[in-house]
Amino acid sequence: MVKICCIGAGYVGGPTMAVIALKCPSIEVVVVDISVNRIAAWNSDQLPIYESGLDDAVKQCRGKNLFFSTDIEKHVSEADIIFVSVNTPTKTRGLGAGKAADLTYWENAARVIADVSKSDKIVVEKSTVPVKTAEAIEKILTHNSEGINYQILSNPEFLAEGTAMQDLFKPDRVLIGGRETPEGRKAVQALKDVYAHWVPEDRILTTNLWSAELSKLAANAFLAQRISSINAISALCEATGANVFEVAYAVGKDSRIGPKFLTASVGFGGSCFQKDILNLVYISECNGLSVVANYWKQVIQINDYQKNRFVNRVVSSMFNTVSGKKIAVLGFAFKKDTGDTRETPAIDVCKGLLRDNATISIYDPQATEDQIQRDLATNKFDWNHPVHLQPMSPTAVKQVSIAWDAYEAAKAAHGLCILTDWDEFKELDYQRIYDDMQKPAFVFDGCDVVDPEKLRAIGFIVYAIGKPLDSWLKDLPAVA
Ligand code: UDX
Ligand code: UDX
Ligand code: ADP
Repeated sequence: MVKICCIGAGYVGGPTMAVIALKCPSIEVVVVDISVNRIAAWNSDQLPIYESGLDDAVKQCRGKNLFFSTDIEKHVSEADIIFVSVNTPTKTRGLGAGKAADLTYWENAARVIADVSKSDKIVVEKSTVPVKTAEAIEKILTHNSEGINYQILSNPEFLAEGTAMQDLFKPDRVLIGGRETPEGRKAVQALKDVYAHWVPEDRILTTNLWSAELSKLAANAFLAQRISSINAISALCEATGANVFEVAYAVGKDSRIGPKFLTASVGFGGSCFQKDILNLVYISECNGLSVVANYWKQVIQINDYQKNRFVNRVVSSMFNTVSGKKIAVLGFAFKKDTGDTRETPAIDVCKGLLRDNATISIYDPQATEDQIQRDLATNKFDWNHPVHLQPMSPTAVKQVSIAWDAYEAAKAAHGLCILTDWDEFKELDYQRIYDDMQKPAFVFDGCDVVDPEKLRAIGFIVYAIGKPLDSWLKDLPAVA
């Protein structure tokens, strides 16, 4: 029986291993983590993450060929194939701070592998890492244990949150990079055999190590770039009277361009896009490619610009000040159907409004109060390091409240900002919301949730990203 051990029971490791166990009954899969709570949750009825279909997969395999454990050393030492799926946040201090990936967790995992291995291992990079990480890991492994052959493979994961199980069951492609030596090819084949249990052969791509590592960064950078491109056009649409959704539809009809990832928004969020682009920028700079680095930096700059532009629209529409005014914020998660708030644009928008001294009342169907308060109190690059948390600023504590539903959030508010595309925001009784708000009542839609015409008919003044402005906003000075 082939034995697989996965180090890191997070968003990527957990679902990926559940699917491998489900599709490969002949393989024993053990997921290990340093977090006792996380492992306890994976062993309980309340899994630590929600993905549709994940519960079923775990229930079918747990205790048979899928196990969750904190005994890292034992399971690493017994495994033939070790996946490493630990977190790789952006460095917050020292060389490359704010750009380079923090590989501390990866290095620790590699050192454990070196310490406990007594037989040859295939070590698989699952977390997104900078190009050439495999080389560094190889050095740690070979310099720390003698007589053992390690083959490092890069097998980046392309799943998106909310559709993790579908993405794993029917991936567009599985990418495996390895050394171009006989041992390297053998290791690639061993991993290919695992995926071949359910993925058609023509969807399993094999490349050299560096191509696989770089492809993951490039894929995320391209996706984010499409969003920044359409968001840049959204600003131009507002200035000219075009509608960005009509433009995106027309542009996306070109089969060379395609329709996906062209939805204008208040900005992209999530744990991957910004981090991976920063990574790309950093490795470009390290290789002396400053023009390339600057090109990719623009994708993040447009994303920041879009969030600032939104805040400026709110403030300028409301007589140039939101000081002391209640603003309802609907949605805090980085996209619908998740409680994940990592890098959500809502953080920057709320902070922008708080800087202008607004009072904000936030409602999100899934993000927790604790998480929201922590996000607003944390400095930009500190999210993954709870120990470095800054104390919540006294102003923010007083000025942020969490509401149980959208109606409570909107009660007596001057303005309403929609920052996540939750379906339930489409179904709200906006007449009721209008009746309970201060007048004039403003709606600022960052996610194409409402029909501006319907809301204008109720009496709202509406700003919707990339859509034609109503006369109220048109008469204001242009927002840069
Ligand atoms: C282009 C658009 O394709 C067309 O829709 C529009 O109406 C007019 O402009 P054209 O200029 O004829 O058409 O050529 P196209 O085939 O798009 O190529 C333009 C340039 O891009 C060429 O120099 C081509 O070599 C280059 N190219 C194209 C690449 O370098 N890489 C590619 O992947 C595609
Ligand atoms: C992304 C990639 O899609 C996935 O392949 C990779 O493995 C991890 O990163 P994820 O972060 O889960 O997945 O979410 P995704 O659905 O890609 O959305 C990212 C952000 O872009 C969200 O904030 C979303 O609202 C925004 N977005 C997406 C847009 O603003 N417009 C779009 O058209 C699409
Ligand atoms: P991702 O989105 O990449 O899956 P997560 O942050 O969700 O990232 O999960 C990473 C997991 O890796 C966390 O549960 C963390 O506790 C775990 N982890 C980090 N370092 C180690 C390590 N050295 N050994 C075992 N688990 C680790």
